[in-house]
Amino acid sequence: MLIIKDISNLQSYLNAYQNRKYSIGYVPTMGALHKGHGELIKQSKKDNHKTIVSIFINEKQFSSKEDFENYPRNKGFDYDFCIDNEVDILFEPSSEEIFNNDEKIIKNKNFKDMLCDKFRKGHFDGVITVLDKFFSIIKSNKVYFGEKDYQQLKIIEKFIEEKYKSLDLISIQTKRHEEGIAYSSRNEKLSKKQTQDFISFHIQTKNFISSLEKSLDIENANLKANEFMTSQDVEKFEYFEFRNNTDLSFIGSISEARLFYAIYKGKVRLIDNLKV
Ligand code: PAF
Repeated sequence: MLIIKDISNLQSYLNAYQNRKYSIGYVPTMGALHKGHGELIKQSKKDNHKTIVSIFINEKQFSSKEDFENYPRNKGFDYDFCIDNEVDILFEPSSEEIFNNDEKIIKNKNFKDMLCDKFRKGHFDGVITVLDKFFSIIKSNKVYFGEKDYQQLKIIEKFIEEKYKSLDLISIQTKRHEEGIAYSSRNEKLSKKQTQDFISFHIQTKNFISSLEKSLDIENANLKANEFMTSQDVEKFEYFEFRNNTDLSFIGSISEARLFYAIYKGKVRLIDNLKV
């Protein structure tokens, strides 16, 4: 595996790949890699001649310096993980090179003022601003994202439709632990007790969803979701609501919806979405 830290070096390799007509799959990450990332890499390796993973903790998508500084970092492990998963290039550029004094922020216009966007103002602006940099440097054929960050996925889908028409976005189902919770870099920050509590919250949430009639409409399901929320021992809910799979609206029946949530266990913010 090649570990490349600067853009010009990366582009020499990419040019050589393009001359050989290799297809390139790209997996953007912020490190603290886990089996969820592993699924994206696996799919990219199936679909392409070469797979590139970037590790870049993007300061522009964190709402506070504290959250940025507390984001899990695990460099040695990440390198081993990429080697074990047979990644071809690990791209790990510096913030100075990526942003190069460019202060311009791309404003996201889609799926606004709902779910995470409502609570993390500017977060998705930071996400698409950094992806714009990486997409234009790497110019891959395909790019891979997980369904766990479903709103992010929908926003990136729109962004790609608007600006990177020839790039194929491949979405991959959320990889879950045996107990049902999703793999996430933030899980590392949970204590044993918090992890157990989170697992039990997840199981109860799944049981709650199974108890609903499939013909129920999303609005009425959300009334029941509010009742369920108040019965739970969770420090803080940001949101816990059903939304339509396609446009994230409140329109339709729950058979075409997902339940989205963001909760806090201690200081750790956990998000997930569950298909009904
Ligand atoms: O999902 C993530 O890890 C990040 O938001 C991404 C897409 C790598 C952009 O920094």
